Amino acid sequence: MRKVKVGIVGLGRLGRKHAENLAFRIPNCELLAVCSVIKEEAEQVQEEWGVKYAYTNYDDMIQNKELDAVLIASPSGFHCVQIEKALNANLHVFSEKPLGLYLEEALQVQEAVNKHKDKVFMVGFMRRYDKSYSYAKKQIEEGKIGDPVLIRCYGLDPTKAIDGFMTFAKNNYSGGLFLDMAIHDLDLARWYLNSEAKRVWAIGGSYGYPEIKELNDAETGAALVKFENDTMGIFVAGRNCAHGYHIETEIIGTKGTLRIGTTPEKNMVTVFDENGAIKECSDGFLERFEQAYLSEVEEFISCIRENRQPDVTVEDGVLSTALGYACKESFETGELVSVQSPYKVVPSSL
Ligand code: NAI
Repeated sequence: MRKVKVGIVGLGRLGRKHAENLAFRIPNCELLAVCSVIKEEAEQVQEEWGVKYAYTNYDDMIQNKELDAVLIASPSGFHCVQIEKALNANLHVFSEKPLGLYLEEALQVQEAVNKHKDKVFMVGFMRRYDKSYSYAKKQIEEGKIGDPVLIRCYGLDPTKAIDGFMTFAKNNYSGGLFLDMAIHDLDLARWYLNSEAKRVWAIGGSYGYPEIKELNDAETGAALVKFENDTMGIFVAGRNCAHGYHIETEIIGTKGTLRIGTTPEKNMVTVFDENGAIKECSDGFLERFEQAYLSEVEEFISCIRENRQPDVTVEDGVLSTALGYACKESFETGELVSVQSPYKVVPSSL
């Protein structure tokens, strides 16, 4: 097959990294077009990297008949509508997480994906493509820790990224801490525990950065989740982690425990000096998940070339949105929330 020709929408913090990977690191694909509402951003990437087309309007980009696929890295509130438009334009689609900010729009996307089964659709839960996270999955499947019973996750952004986050959050509605940040952990929990969430209780507040409260969001939050198969999840998410980007996951099983990223090390170097033995911590998502961002898009391109679908499905997107939304609702109302199951048909007699 000839090279897969891809257009990307969104050239911000993450979009630029995806664009760079498409342009330079993935064989068998070509970054044919870039799109951003910021004209200078699109033109700069076009010029620097020799991209054939640059657009400021997404609708114009997807009309380009040379394109095979789009990668959506625009703000979260645009994902659903842009996915549907791309599928209707007969394009393969990779969309960043979250699939949607509301269950209804996520379900509408699922319908569109199901209508275009000949098109590859993938949602950017990149941790599933991280070597450590996929190794842990294999260990669980091989029974190394017996039956998983509890997952504990920390997803903490570094304090030094707070200014970037405030700009991001003021300009775009991200869905809040649980749908934007914890969603990765919520998806991993479903994946590792092999079950869907049943009930959620979430709390949170803004302690070091009260301005986050003004956005009706939490700077630091926690959620306690009970799953259908009686397993449990504890999720801590935050934007104010002094030591760096701390992504840690623990899966406790009946015969053992797995821990990923207990110390969020930047690399293998330890500096010994008058302060002691120092291990620097990871700086942010681009550094920690560099390999995963590349591997997930490699998989997307391979799926197109090999005419198959990726393991991560649109249903994963829908169910994670349902769970993230339930956390948000619980945080906002202070109530214990039953997770709305999008696939359960309630008999009319009940
Ligand atoms: P950002 O705010 O840095 O960049 C957004 C980009 O989209 C900018 O280039 C902006 O000009 C462009 N844009 C905005 N509205 C547009 C429109 N209507 N049409 C075309 N372009 C438009 O945002 P960031 O941090 O790059 O996030 C983008 C998406 O990626 C979000 O959905 C976010 O949740 C997701 N994300 C995922 C991460 C992961 O670990 N998988 C990490 C960071 C972000």
